[in-house]
Amino acid sequence: MRQNMVIANWKLNGGTELIAEFANQWDSLTANNVQVVVCPPAVYLAAAQAHPSLVLGAQSCSAYQEGAYTGELSAAMLHEVGARYVLVGHSERRAMFGETDEVVANKIAAAQQANLVPVLCVGETAEQRSAGFTAKIILQQLEQGLLQADLTRLVIAYEPVWAIGTGETASPAQAQEIHALIRNWVAQQDKGVAAKIPLLYGGSVKPENAAELFQQQDIDGGLIGGASLDVEQFKAICTAAQEI
Ligand code: PGA
Repeated sequence: MRQNMVIANWKLNGGTELIAEFANQWDSLTANNVQVVVCPPAVYLAAAQAHPSLVLGAQSCSAYQEGAYTGELSAAMLHEVGARYVLVGHSERRAMFGETDEVVANKIAAAQQANLVPVLCVGETAEQRSAGFTAKIILQQLEQGLLQADLTRLVIAYEPVWAIGTGETASPAQAQEIHALIRNWVAQQDKGVAAKIPLLYGGSVKPENAAELFQQQDIDGGLIGGASLDVEQFKAICTAAQEI
């Protein structure tokens, strides 16, 4: 049995009020053993620990453990203030903050060393998809990003870049095709891990499309941006994950 999982990625949004709202609704969000994780901006993690039921994640971590890296937060620091998961390689960070596959690999190693579970985000741009390079890009991001990774402590999210925050979602068939590709790649490394690793879909997941996406064979839940800022919408998405 694979763990169904829904992760809220608040990006540069939310704060203590939204954390309290999530904490109030936590029992209904997590019913039927769905693993729900909230990734608020990192400055709120310590305060979010006041709600012990919340399972917390960070949106990024440094590849470095300590030193002269102004503005960075190490994986160990994030763990200390309550994070248990960390997003790595989100397309916004790849596009805007120079997160290459090599940096991604180093961040995943740093995260695992600090006992955080990395959530590796992979995905192709619209141009790469229309040029027929989707599979090549995804496999490259997996191979290079996971060079040093312990696959037994990992989540992978497929987020087509063209579907993030655009309202345009991959069709369930398109998403399933890439999820199967990812699971096959993992199986080539380790069959046992492939049977268990949660593979999440992200990119304009809404209450209206979540159920159909999550019902696909290799989709175990979602990584939710915009719709995670509204507790009612997010709850409907978690309910769809309960029914996988
Ligand atoms: P979205 O974002 O749900 O707003 O498309 C998903 C993400 O970026 O993780």
